[in-house]
Amino acid sequence: MIPHPTSDDKGERLRVHDLAVEQVRDRLADDVRRGLCSAARKFLPPKYFYDELGSQLFEAICLLPEYYLTRAESEIFARCSDEIAGAAAQGSAVTLFELGSGSASKTRRVIEALLRRQRRLLYVPVDISTPALEESAHALLQDYPALAVTAYAGDYDAALPRLGENLDDAVRALVLFLGSNIGNFDRGEARDFLRRVRRVLRAGDRLLVGADLKKDPAVLEAAYDDALGVTAAFNLNLLARINRELQADFHVRAFRHVALYDEREGRVEMHLESTRTQTVRIHALDLDVHFGAGERIHTENSYKYDLAELSALAAATGFESARTWLDTSERFSSNLFVAGGD
Ligand code: AVI
Repeated sequence: MIPHPTSDDKGERLRVHDLAVEQVRDRLADDVRRGLCSAARKFLPPKYFYDELGSQLFEAICLLPEYYLTRAESEIFARCSDEIAGAAAQGSAVTLFELGSGSASKTRRVIEALLRRQRRLLYVPVDISTPALEESAHALLQDYPALAVTAYAGDYDAALPRLGENLDDAVRALVLFLGSNIGNFDRGEARDFLRRVRRVLRAGDRLLVGADLKKDPAVLEAAYDDALGVTAAFNLNLLARINRELQADFHVRAFRHVALYDEREGRVEMHLESTRTQTVRIHALDLDVHFGAGERIHTENSYKYDLAELSALAAATGFESARTWLDTSERFSSNLFVAGGD
């Protein structure tokens, strides 16, 4: 039989490396113990938002009228992706990496712009959510026959040391770190993280950082406390996850979502506030956690930047800030950093 000319070669174009996702439960246990039991002020790391439901809730957040970040960054890509691809490639072929790729919907513009410049493209996404990664990889392979995908399911610690496997002398790396993901690191962590990214790159490789800009606190607080309560559900889902995965008995309705902008720190903070005195049993940790009325668990920081802080961040981490694109309302920035000499 003559093979059908459009026969599906998606299997050959897709590799998924599952990086110790089994360990995530152990890490969750350690982090919950550390954050709820040993800390003076209770906290939980935001990476645990992204179970299957949490990832879907985040996709819904991106559609909310108050959460302008995704639309602003998409607008930049719709207008400027050819310019961004040109500035990143500078005449070379590019391999495209993405840290925290999620649904990769904005990435499509960059993929298309690169495929207008080169015949084939290797895309290397990293995401903590295996289902989000697999779903987006299949959709991209379906839509772009010239694309190959090598995906890493895991956190950045597990994935970063593996990225070099996809670099060779003939291509320049363009690493996308979009959607204000940088904002979920505190300022010191952001520097440490970009230095680690710099170490896996070679001089001349590129990093595109999407950073949300400082603005009116009312606009920022609304973006993290929407009228429909989707962000509240995203935040509270963390407790539902701990109930499910660590056999806890959080009464989710006895906590409320709080989002506030700390102007001095330049960050939106999210908290879960206990509405009454209560004790929560976490069976898998053999632990009882006591909450006073009004006591909060700090679940996320979203740092906001100005342009001077972004160039200083590049300079402090072995990059040079080569170009910045803004959306037309100047709410969000896409920053092209070039890796400096080794
Ligand atoms: C993924 N990250 C950049 C989002 C942010 O804006 O900090 C997560 C988020 N938290 C609440 N809404 C969205």
